[in-house]
Amino acid sequence: MSAERRILITGANGVLGGAIARQFLERDPACRVWLGVRGKRDKAEELAREYPERAQLLSLEVTSAEDWQAAVAAVETAGGPLSVLVNNAGGHDDALLATMRREQWNSVLDTNLNAVFLGCQAAVGSMLRGRWGRIINVASLSALHSPAGQANYAAAKAGVLGLTQSLAKETARLGITVNAVCPGHIEGAPPAGWTDEQLQAARRQTPMRRFARPEEIAAVVFFLASPEASYMTGSTLKLDGALV
Ligand SMILES: NC(=O)c1ccc[n+]([C@@H]2O[C@H](COP(=O)([O-])OP(=O)(O)OC[C@H]3O[C@@H](n4cnc5c(N)ncnc54)[C@H](OP(=O)(O)O)[C@@H]3O)[C@@H](O)[C@H]2O)c1
Repeated sequence: MSAERRILITGANGVLGGAIARQFLERDPACRVWLGVRGKRDKAEELAREYPERAQLLSLEVTSAEDWQAAVAAVETAGGPLSVLVNNAGGHDDALLATMRREQWNSVLDTNLNAVFLGCQAAVGSMLRGRWGRIINVASLSALHSPAGQANYAAAKAGVLGLTQSLAKETARLGITVNAVCPGHIEGAPPAGWTDEQLQAARRQTPMRRFARPEEIAAVVFFLASPEASYMTGSTLKLDGALV
């Protein structure tokens, strides 16, 4: 890969977002990476210090259409059209549906699904100007195999898969591919509130007997963003150590 690619990764201070950013910075010396951050910034700042020429932080609350417009404009002003968008920011707020507060439902749908809509809409215009683009949406195994207690998260992530397929068809002839990944458990980013015993049990239930290392998911994202993945669009990849 020799041409400069401009990559925007949301939730880049998080475990997976950081691993994805590092993967691009290490493996594509010609790329520039914008690290989308909201609250915490410490890890993203560390990465930006490691790659001062090619990585920079960008304040991006993914549920804000205004933030998205500003983010894409910042990338374009600095170098040109956005080449790769990784919609990685997300989170869950679990409850049984019978007792789930409306606010819990809405906020999880907002962060995990509405934000992906906003991000894709902002990115596609820019990618059309560059006549090339790769969008990778980070969903979850919960989209394919919905657990009890995650109706909001599972519905949001399943929605991401639907959005991914529709958008892939809309952009298939325009040089823009759109794919989704569905990770199972990721090492270092356990579901909030889980005990060590629950984590050990989940590892035992996984046929590989371990969780994914963040860089194993990041490597697949890197491939989906590569020129070599040019015929792959509208796809969902399950990355779960054969859990399902
Ligand atoms: N961990 C897993 O086992 C697992 C499994 C399957 C899928 N996933 C998915 O993988 C993605 C990354 O998760 P992770 O495991 O790396 O979790 P993480 O370490 O908690 O990182 C999540 C990141 O998303 C950011 N974020 C959340 N809401 C945001 C918002 N409204 N605007 C901007 N940024 C926001 C967080 O920023 P703040 O610091 O500001 O909150 C944080 O940087 C998520 O989409 C998650 O659903 C994770």
